[in-house]
Amino acid sequence: MNLRVKVKERLGRKFDEEIRFFKGWMSNAKAVGAILPTSSVTARRMASVINPHSGLPVLELGPGTGVITKAILERGIAPEDLVSVEYSTDFYQQLKANYANVNFINGDAFDLKQTLGAMKDRTFDSVISAVPLLNFPMYRRVELIEDLLSRIPVGRPVVQISYGPLSPVVAMPDRYSIQHLDFVVRNIPPAQLWVYRKAH
Ligand SMILES: C[S@@+](CC[C@H](N)C(=O)[O-])C[C@H]1O[C@@H](n2cnc3c(N)ncnc32)[C@H](O)[C@@H]1O
Repeated sequence: MNLRVKVKERLGRKFDEEIRFFKGWMSNAKAVGAILPTSSVTARRMASVINPHSGLPVLELGPGTGVITKAILERGIAPEDLVSVEYSTDFYQQLKANYANVNFINGDAFDLKQTLGAMKDRTFDSVISAVPLLNFPMYRRVELIEDLLSRIPVGRPVVQISYGPLSPVVAMPDRYSIQHLDFVVRNIPPAQLWVYRKAH
């Protein structure tokens, strides 16, 4: 295949992805919470916190078009060791078609006990989340972070992408620590990455 055809194909795929994302966004603006898919730079930065040698599975929330899913797999996580929860059925079906053997679940990240089913008592290495937290009230954000922290070992990270200048989850130093991981300009809109860890 010559270069021009290859480039055209790639651009076509990228465009399809953006159209799919835009459709999901239009039909459920509150749940999607961003305008374009996460950039691969951001996705790789988020996946960098994963320990691929822990022997534990990874939990992903809000995979959308799968850019972060791809980065997690490229970090060295076997598809069978990735559990990924997506609320939108459209995205879920597309993800299942694109990433074989990943444990995608079409469900609500805010109700993991129910959503994870048989995997509800699993310990994960870390959590990589793109759920649009700013669209939810603060008490639900705190509840989610604490629920996520209860599913990983003390000291391991929950990484959250957000688009505001401040941590989307209020500080509770006696319960968890907050670290600003990065500000990624190569993302539309520019993205802030936050890491939460259990205090003890
Ligand atoms: C900002 S988008 C993520 C974009 C994704 N990183 C990408 O590049 O395609 C937020 C995603 O979270 C999903 N989502 C929203 N609320 C959710 C929930 N309660 N549980 C699981 N997923 C949720 C949306 O459907 C959407 O796919």
